[in-house]
Amino acid sequence: MNKNDLKPRISSIIDGDKATNQKMQAICDLLQERLPTYNWVGFYMAHESEPTLHLWCQAGEPTDHVVIPFGKGICGQVAVSNQNFVVDDVKAQDNYIACSIHVKSEVVIPLFKDGKNVGQIDIDSNTVAAFDESDERFLEWVNEQVATIL
Ligand code: SME
Repeated sequence: MNKNDLKPRISSIIDGDKATNQKMQAICDLLQERLPTYNWVGFYMAHESEPTLHLWCQAGEPTDHVVIPFGKGICGQVAVSNQNFVVDDVKAQDNYIACSIHVKSEVVIPLFKDGKNVGQIDIDSNTVAAFDESDERFLEWVNEQVATIL
């Protein structure tokens, strides 16, 4: 399935009457089920006063990394840089936190609420170089939708 074809389904999840964390979980499940290279999908959200990211919801293999300090790993770097981070080959990264031996590539896109970096969507793939600019644009759009329910 083309990822952009999922946009109407994501919009209807956002517009539904579930709680915010249930909507975010439903988005993780949808992306992980429908997009073959999206093997793990999660939202890490920043603590309101401490420099740590917390895993709010995920689809895919469970991970031990439910709290990540700012600056650590790809996720922690995005918490500080406010920039998208596309990793074609995770083995080439020094500052990387491995969640599964199967993961080959990753993309992390910051989520902004009122201009503030409040969290991120993190996708892992078991395929090398699974993500390109079309994934960045799509995931920026997903995060913009989620920002409206935070
Ligand atoms: N690989 C991430 C950690 C999160 S897991 O991918 C679920 C990182 O380096 O920050």
